[in-house]
Amino acid sequence: MSSTTNEAPTAPIPLLGKPKQQGRKGASSVGKTACIRTFGCQMNVHDSDRMRRMIQDAGYAEVQRYEDADLVILNTCYVRENAVDRVRGHLGELNRLRREGRVKKVALTGCIGAAEESTRLRETYNIDLVLGTHNTYELAEFVGLPTMRETYTPELPGTEGEHSAFVTIMTGCNYQCSYCIVPTVRGRMICRPLGSVIEEVENLVAGGTEYLTLLGQTVDAWRHEGKRFCDLLEAVSEVAPRVWFTTSHPSNMEDRTLRAIGERETIVKRLHLPVQSGSDRMLKIMHRGYKAERYRRKIEVFREAAPDGTLSTDIIVGHPGETEEDHERTLELVEDCEFDSAYIFKFSPRRGTEAAEAPGTVPDAVVGRRFLEVLRAVEQNAFRRNQRKVGGVEEIFIRHGATEDGKAIGETWSGHAVHVDTDAAPGSYVTAKVESAGPHVLYAGAPTG
Ligand code: 5AD
Ligand code: SF4
Repeated sequence: MSSTTNEAPTAPIPLLGKPKQQGRKGASSVGKTACIRTFGCQMNVHDSDRMRRMIQDAGYAEVQRYEDADLVILNTCYVRENAVDRVRGHLGELNRLRREGRVKKVALTGCIGAAEESTRLRETYNIDLVLGTHNTYELAEFVGLPTMRETYTPELPGTEGEHSAFVTIMTGCNYQCSYCIVPTVRGRMICRPLGSVIEEVENLVAGGTEYLTLLGQTVDAWRHEGKRFCDLLEAVSEVAPRVWFTTSHPSNMEDRTLRAIGERETIVKRLHLPVQSGSDRMLKIMHRGYKAERYRRKIEVFREAAPDGTLSTDIIVGHPGETEEDHERTLELVEDCEFDSAYIFKFSPRRGTEAAEAPGTVPDAVVGRRFLEVLRAVEQNAFRRNQRKVGGVEEIFIRHGATEDGKAIGETWSGHAVHVDTDAAPGSYVTAKVESAGPHVLYAGAPTG
């Protein structure tokens, strides 16, 4: 969605899929209760969905507050340093609740669980269960279900029977970007067979799912038995009513895929392609494997294939060694690509990555200024592009039902986020006229159909 922030999750789509079951301790005095808190990217959201199904199978009612829960699961993110600080805050609070006899057990899962740091956290906070990203299935045994065996996680199905669902098509990452902890905590790339993906998509669609998001750290790197990502995307687009994918890597993105986005009716015309920097020198230091010019060419193909589509990216400012000239190159790239939104991150050193040891630290004040300059450039472009949509009539997929102000949040086929005056249910479509636009969202009036 169109948002531009330093505090963004580790990958830019909103959380989909609501908990299926909710309960309160007082309401069901005999039942066990569990609370799952998710941090970070949609891979984690997806893992949480799978754990949610395990706890439900084990007879737990899901609750939203720690104080109502027997078991608390913190499914964590490790992409930036403050992620660990945030989790520490939650663990401290949980220890207090445990002393008061309210919370009984605490589990730490996800990327921090897979990192060395978890050993210290486990000792300091007396955590009952620590799981990494590769052995989430061990939660089953912990909650009293039969032991599960898994060769690799994607075989487990995603959320079923909801209007939106994630389908993991690959896990891990074979890149070694200088700043990134993901390859350490998620491991090398494992691609899920095409047949298995299609089977899951068919089951989800049969169960009423409207919107499928294909998930992975570098989905466009997907390869299996001679098939490439575009083959998989096309096959999914044949059976899914609506499909999107994230995240991609510019080195893997094929023109064929970009053209398929434009041509295939069921694919949302929205591309998230992280560029990280507009400077060839920085892209080399980051080991990104492409130059800015190649990125620009990809964007040209996308804009030609889907002129109305939305483009978003990730940008890191203040990576060690970034000069004023490198920063200027990033600003130029932002102007040239006219992103509809961007996730802008201030560089954060992750222990164990190359960049954490690299010379050329950029002073905080400089990082802050560069951050604001990139933000302003992105927002100006996004605002200008959104203005072009005003007056148009759009078919809008409702993702979140109306809140107290009567506005639902939906998405156009071009991938724009829209606030719309309707009480239509999530998963349905409405047609409405766009009346105004800000840098992040469009505003539509009451639906006409
Ligand atoms: N510092 C800042 N941003 C980072 N990202 C990943 N690692 C770091 C880091 N150490 C950003 C990248 C990536 C997004 C998911 O998070 O832009 O694309
Ligand atoms: Fe991290 Fe780079 Fe892999 Fe993305 S491509 S997950 S930034 S190592």
